[in-house]
Amino acid sequence: MPEKPIVAVTFRISDAGLRYLRDDYTVRIWPGDLPPSPDELDVLLDGAVGALTHGANKVDGNVLDRHPNLRVVSNYAVGYDNIDVPAATARGVAVCNTPDVLTQATAELAFSLMLATARRIPEGVDYVRAGKWKTWGPQLLLGQPLTGATVGIVGFGRIGKAFARMCTGFGTRILAWDRSPHTKTTDGMDVTFVDMDTLLAESDFVSIHVALSDTTRHLIGAVELKKMKPTAILVNSARGPVVDTDALVEALQGGEIFAAGLDVTDPEPIPADHPLVHMPNCVVIPHIGSATTQTRNAMAELAANNLVAVLQGRQPEAILNPEVLENLTP
Ligand code: DGY
Repeated sequence: MPEKPIVAVTFRISDAGLRYLRDDYTVRIWPGDLPPSPDELDVLLDGAVGALTHGANKVDGNVLDRHPNLRVVSNYAVGYDNIDVPAATARGVAVCNTPDVLTQATAELAFSLMLATARRIPEGVDYVRAGKWKTWGPQLLLGQPLTGATVGIVGFGRIGKAFARMCTGFGTRILAWDRSPHTKTTDGMDVTFVDMDTLLAESDFVSIHVALSDTTRHLIGAVELKKMKPTAILVNSARGPVVDTDALVEALQGGEIFAAGLDVTDPEPIPADHPLVHMPNCVVIPHIGSATTQTRNAMAELAANNLVAVLQGRQPEAILNPEVLENLTP
């Protein structure tokens, strides 16, 4: 019997995805808890026709050149800033991702982070755990209200729009900034597209939902933070480098904004001794936007199915460079 082609998986994928790979491929799974180093990734990818990756695996033209058998890189994420898509396209390698299945979970997380930060929930938990709760206090842990507030959404893609829908239940005024506002629909929601300066100046909450690219790196820096209200809250559940970390530290320390809620950081993971981790007005959580069992299973299934579809010469559900399919043969 001919040997099955090799598919490399860079993390322990759940059976929801694995079961689509086992029958037809030799599945080589990275066993470590931490992602493979570049050298370890090379060993893992050796001879593989497909790679199932996630955001911590950098796949650029050099990696692809060292693994000429690769025909598809299927990323277990909607974001794909870890993959050089033009380099893959130039080499005829398909790149897939997992949109839609994580939209609601990620928007829910951003929404939770917004409220947790605004109402100072982590500070309250710490306060109780530290035995400081001696009496009810009229001035204790005063936060910011969401009801009736102005929410500024930076990036009105799938997740930004789902986040907007959640905000509509709180009587908020919704502003949005998007690079291509004319391509966006609001599905009947009352959303006003504005320029970035207006959004920053008028919003009580600014929530980031753009992909990371050369144009969005440090989209929110010192200048932008200074334009925000001193009572405003910044929420980032997109990618850490969209915000200039040093500028954010200064803005939080200097009271330029009220607080920040971060599911993503730069660097990521953020070291435990980083100032952001210890500021009472900054809530940092470890990139768990899509972390529900249901969503992660759906991501595993979609990522595996995308990969198999490309290898079997079918159209995958989500592909970033469909032009390469024309030249792929099963
Ligand atoms: C995504 O899907 O892009 C999430 O951030 C997980 O990496």
